[in-house]
This record gives sequence, C-alpha cells and structure tokens, in this order.
Amino acid sequence: MENEILLAKTTIFVKSLLESDSSGHDWWHIYRVRKMALLIAKAEGADMFMVELAALLHDVDDWKLTGDKAGNQQTEKWLHSCGAGQQLIERVKTIIEGVSFKGAGVNTSTKDPECSVLQDADRLDAIGAIGIARTFAYGGSRGRGIYNPGIPPEMHSDFENYKKSNAPTINHFYEKLLLLKDQMQTPTGRVMAEQRHQFMLRFLDQFYAEWNNEPI
Ligand code: NI
Repeated sequence: MENEILLAKTTIFVKSLLESDSSGHDWWHIYRVRKMALLIAKAEGADMFMVELAALLHDVDDWKLTGDKAGNQQTEKWLHSCGAGQQLIERVKTIIEGVSFKGAGVNTSTKDPECSVLQDADRLDAIGAIGIARTFAYGGSRGRGIYNPGIPPEMHSDFENYKKSNAPTINHFYEKLLLLKDQMQTPTGRVMAEQRHQFMLRFLDQFYAEWNNEPI
C-alpha cells in the first residue's frame, strides 16, 4: 500500500513537471515508457515497483532537459520529501543513471534487470513512428534543421561530443535511432524494436525519394 501511495504521488509530481514540455520529453513520453516498462518487466520477471518508480522519474533530471546542472537532485529531493529511505533513493538513482544513451560509441549495456527493462522501454519510445515524431520535435526545440545533405552523420565516441552536436535531425537517425535495435537489453525489447526499426528505414527511403524527386 505504501508503494502505491508513493507511485500515485510521484505520478502527480512528474505530470505537473513535464506537462508543458514540447521537446518530446513530455508527460505522455513518461506515460508510454511506464506502460512499456511494466509490460517488459512482467515478461522478464523484474521488480515491478522499482521499474515503475524509476520509469516515472527517469527524465526528471535528464541532461537534455536540465542542461546537466541539476544532476540527480530533483529525483532525490522528491523521494526524500515523500519520506523514502536512502536505500530506495540510491536504487532509483542507479537505475536511472544507466538508462540514457550517451553516443554511438559509448557502451551503456547493463546487467541490472530493472535498468535493462527501463532502458529498453525508453529506447523503444525513441524509435518507430513515435520516435520519428519525437526526434523532429526535439530537433526543433533545439533549433536544428531537418536535413542538410552537406553535413554527414558523426559517430560520437564520447558523451561530451554527443551532447554538443547540433547536426540536422536526419543525422540523428544514424547517430542514435538506427543503432538502438542492436542495443536492446531484453528479449522482449529486441522483438519490439525490430518492427519499429523497419518502419524508420521505410521512412528514410521515402524521405530521400521525395527529396531527390525520385519514384518511390
Ligand atoms: Ni525518456
């Protein structure tokens, strides 16, 4: 029961925090990731409570939204204010820290079962039709162009360079989105990623065909 109250309170907190976001990291992203994470957690036998709590809070301190300033502080402060113990707070922080993509050449694989589940759920929301929509929304929010044939994609081998990138959004497909299918941590995630991956390839084919005025 205590866990349910914490989840309910956290839902209200995160919703109010991210409701007006327009960079693709809005409340509905959290809503989908939570749903997907619970589905994968069930199939993989992970701790449902930990997965749900971490899913709700996973973007609250994300570098893309906070500009890296706040670190993990909002999550910690929130859980602390709800009376959560230090052990629980540390566990949630550990799961969340393992979730984020940090560049094409940066290894973010994990053996932590709850982190694996959440990482897959978050990355599934970054690919497929929703992933495409979110990617352009994010690019727009950062002042990035749609496509520039003169700027080739870059494979970032460290997180700092990846964060600094200001390339057109189409490049992001090669620098991140198309790589995610092979980085899925769970069997359930791998199956779901495959279909979404194929859809992105079809999108790119159509995009270039239209760009070059070629038959589709
Ligand atoms: Ni996310």
